[in-house]
Amino acid sequence: MIHWSSSSIFRSFGFSNLVGWLRLPEVASFPAPVDGPLAWHHLGGGGFTSLAERYAGSRRIMPSGVRLSSVGANAPEEPPALPGDMESLYHVPVMPREVVEWINPEPGKLLMDCTFGGGGHTRRMLAGGAGVLALDRDADAMGQAQELSEDWPEDLVPLRTSFDHYPEILSEAGVYGVDGILMDVGVSSWQIDSPNRGFSFRFDGPLDMRMDRDAPLTAADIVNAWTVEELTRIFFDYGEERASRRVAQAIEKRRAVKAIMTTGQLAELVATVIPKHSGQHPAAKIFQALRIAVNDELGCLERALAEAHHWLRPGGRLVVLTFHSLEDRLVKNYMRRHSEPFVDRPEWPAPRPNTECHYRLPVRKAITASDAEQRENPRSRCARLRVAERIS
Ligand SMILES: C[S@@+](CC[C@H](N)C(=O)[O-])C[C@H]1O[C@@H](n2cnc3c(N)ncnc32)[C@H](O)[C@@H]1O
Repeated sequence: MIHWSSSSIFRSFGFSNLVGWLRLPEVASFPAPVDGPLAWHHLGGGGFTSLAERYAGSRRIMPSGVRLSSVGANAPEEPPALPGDMESLYHVPVMPREVVEWINPEPGKLLMDCTFGGGGHTRRMLAGGAGVLALDRDADAMGQAQELSEDWPEDLVPLRTSFDHYPEILSEAGVYGVDGILMDVGVSSWQIDSPNRGFSFRFDGPLDMRMDRDAPLTAADIVNAWTVEELTRIFFDYGEERASRRVAQAIEKRRAVKAIMTTGQLAELVATVIPKHSGQHPAAKIFQALRIAVNDELGCLERALAEAHHWLRPGGRLVVLTFHSLEDRLVKNYMRRHSEPFVDRPEWPAPRPNTECHYRLPVRKAITASDAEQRENPRSRCARLRVAERIS
């Protein structure tokens, strides 16, 4: 069960801030707290308490005695220096300084971290004084969040869910808007480096790749059941693999003899089709494609982006970190579509005001990691950070 405190995230922000986050009908019927802290059942609809029960499901997986939550607790204003060995046990956050600069955590603000992972970014938001609603669909990540919430019981609300469900979560909890949304999409180092999760061609393990291990579809299901056409499409669309059809055909031939159930079997098979290039493993793009398909990564991102401007308060920022061009394109197009003051179409005599213009873009181009960070953390090399600020 997720650790839960009914005193919850808003107590420390005081009633006046709380009112701003609530939908009007609930504000109107909001009873003044009689004794003790604000309780979520006062909000009607159960607030986060019932949500926490519904979305609960976390598991402690770190070796006992290792508490990532101690990292960054009570940190000074400056984000803590990378806490090296502790943080890297789970995931070293990418562009932590840049994320903090743009998400701008301050006391009284409510931020939503859609991708808690090892909590590197969340920890820095908490250290800046903000309250954080932290989502992740991975039970291991929620184990980390649960631990962290023991140190920040007033300020951190962890919920295990896919982040494209945040509109339901916020509306059921009666939250009117948030001051910042962070999405650091993709997989954590913990997920990739755990052989039993089946994400990596570097280790032999079950062909799984589910971020949410309660989800019904595994990579083995796809590899052993989808048609050659379907496999070709995902390898091409999500992996940008030129040999997509040949790999799909090789899979079809092999599985007719014996089901492909491990990462090792798949990696070996792909290596017989795609010649080894210098640098990348021949199966890298195929594994990426499968992972994206298993977790519907692009669909989740697209749905979550499409709602963001409805939930950001004016001045609030959407901060998105992506790790490949397919994701970055979705983010760039969404932000552009909602920040152009005018739209034009060939059939119109003149450009018209964009009724869907909700953002200004404080930086137009994607931000990349510094040379120093790229040297220290190779994962940051392909990262792209984009920011949009809600204007009205
Ligand atoms: C790159 S890691 C985030 C790292 C984190 N920012 C940190 O500093 O440790 C991505 C995380 O997002 C989670 N994730 C990916 N897609 C998700 C989705 N649709 N809903 C919820 N969590 C998701 C993964 O389970 C993983 O834990």
